[in-house]
Amino acid sequence: MKKKVILTQIYQDEAIEKLKEDYQLIIAEQDSRNLLEILKANTDTQALISFLSDDINGEIIAGGPNLKIIANYAVGYNNIDFQYAMGQGIYVTHTPDILTNATADLTMALILAVSRRIVEADAFLKKGEFSGWGANLMLGKELNGAILGIVGLGRIGLATAIRANSFGMKVVYYDRNQKKDLEVRHGFEYRRFVDLLKISDVVSLHIPYSPDMHHLFNRDVFDLMKKDAIFINASRGALMDEEYLAEKLENQTLFGAGLDVYEHEPRVTEKLKKLDNAVLVPHIGSATTKARLEMAMMTIRSVDRALSGQAPDHLIPEWKRY
Ligand code: GLV
Ligand code: GLV
Repeated sequence: MKKKVILTQIYQDEAIEKLKEDYQLIIAEQDSRNLLEILKANTDTQALISFLSDDINGEIIAGGPNLKIIANYAVGYNNIDFQYAMGQGIYVTHTPDILTNATADLTMALILAVSRRIVEADAFLKKGEFSGWGANLMLGKELNGAILGIVGLGRIGLATAIRANSFGMKVVYYDRNQKKDLEVRHGFEYRRFVDLLKISDVVSLHIPYSPDMHHLFNRDVFDLMKKDAIFINASRGALMDEEYLAEKLENQTLFGAGLDVYEHEPRVTEKLKKLDNAVLVPHIGSATTKARLEMAMMTIRSVDRALSGQAPDHLIPEWKRY
């Protein structure tokens, strides 16, 4: 008898085919029942592969009494009540590293798009408004010499900082832990959070979401930023007060913002959508063909290990401390 695995949403074909070879696969997205109902009807399910848009709360986890693993197809895992899962002895894994470059590329793309007004310029041209070269047409900001403030110098923050360095940006960072080795190797400078906000021309957010970090970027914090600074968020939307950010962009007390994530995804604050100085993309940080296939394969390796009695390789950090 093949072991039962639930995949909540469709992902890469190749990965789905591979799962079907070894497991009895249930794809929740193709089922008319909700995830809890499916779990309750299949209490022998041993693995759940979940997505960042799935709320894997305690009730859902309790619905699968034989679950050995929840493998999240994302580096972030704030969508899972992992404390509850750990208490039940269920492994929780994520997909770090393999999406770092893709996400850092997207972050750089947002920085460039906002600073050079790429989306606004593209729309301008396509509307037929390009009537000739202009000395004052679509003036933006230069990255060379500008200060990039990285909030959270983890894998993605670091990969972004290295990219920015090659554009001539000076990198300062704030992190819970000062990283002297990276300072020496790359010339980054540590700043207190408040100081970073006051001096940075671009502030880019790279920390995972946890409830104690909710609205880290609140009114007071946004108001510490320079009036012509750029705010970038490709981590989690609930780290910022999106409504207030929209207000600041509208009043032009920031130069612009580039967002890949939103406080109430997939809903996006209406005001933001009307602003030329907001570049908005639909949570595509890791969306390259390569990264997404590797993420899918990583979830399978984690499931394979857990269901053959081994600890998976990409347990969430909390699990390792547990
Ligand atoms: C994307 O947001 C991820 O956490 O992988
Ligand atoms: C976050 O988990 C990162 O990879 O930076």
